[in-house]
Amino acid sequence: MLLEARNLKVCYGQVKALNDVSFNIRTGEIVAMIGPNGAGKSTSLKAVCGLLDDSNGRIESGQVLLDGNSILNKRTDQLVQDGISLLPEGRRVFQSMTVLENIKMGAYIRINKAEIKRDIERILDLFPQLKNRLKQKAGTLSSGEQQMLAITRALVNKPKFILADEPSLGLSPNFVELIFEKFTQISESGTAILLVEQNAYMALKVAQRAYVFSIGEIIQEDTCDKLKENEEVKNAFLGG
Ligand SMILES: Nc1ncnc2c1ncn2[C@@H]1O[C@H](COP(=O)(O)OP(=O)(O)O)[C@@H](O)[C@H]1O
Ligand SMILES: [Mg+2]
Repeated sequence: MLLEARNLKVCYGQVKALNDVSFNIRTGEIVAMIGPNGAGKSTSLKAVCGLLDDSNGRIESGQVLLDGNSILNKRTDQLVQDGISLLPEGRRVFQSMTVLENIKMGAYIRINKAEIKRDIERILDLFPQLKNRLKQKAGTLSSGEQQMLAITRALVNKPKFILADEPSLGLSPNFVELIFEKFTQISESGTAILLVEQNAYMALKVAQRAYVFSIGEIIQEDTCDKLKENEEVKNAFLGG
């Protein structure tokens, strides 16, 4: 198993955010997390990538294993070294930096400049639209293009897997289709994706398996094919 989270309990002060949450992901797999607002999906991603330091959310108990080794108390920059990239909610590209400068930020742990350059060129084949806009300020891109940029930035780290938090939020339907198509290509080249999505329809279409969250717990887990046929899931998330 590439990543395994076991029995996570997380609190924000007195607020319990996760109560005994377990999930896993294999190499090259796309796994979705769906469920209503506030159910604990983002908290689950944060627990994996070291963003719950005690000042902002605390892991009370549980385990997070990467390739069988505990990564529970590792800092985010160490986890980047280990091959975990975060595609944060809202994209968070640096608006006043150029597209290329943003991409290079994703490679900050790597040293070999020639190799980085080659990798950036290869990754940009996924998003040819960005190629002739490398010198443009990121803030001048549309939200869909900014998401392409955020994905490119996440990939230059050569991650084993990407944690994607609501990547379709605020994108036009065409861009949503495109981004999810790219996720499929990325996973086929061996990078796993843990995909948190409000857009359950698209998430279940692109992922192989999914976890359904409700108020700090996982209430269902199955293959997407099975979940798409599940009456509760259909009624709650797929418009009946
Ligand atoms: N920084 C925070 N401080 C306090 N409570 C938080 C914080 N982040 C999230 N929560 C609470 O934790 C619960 C889970 O939130 P979250 O993981 O963001 O849910 P989701 O991503 O599924 O919408 C919610 O009750 C939310 O209000
Ligand atoms: Mg969230």
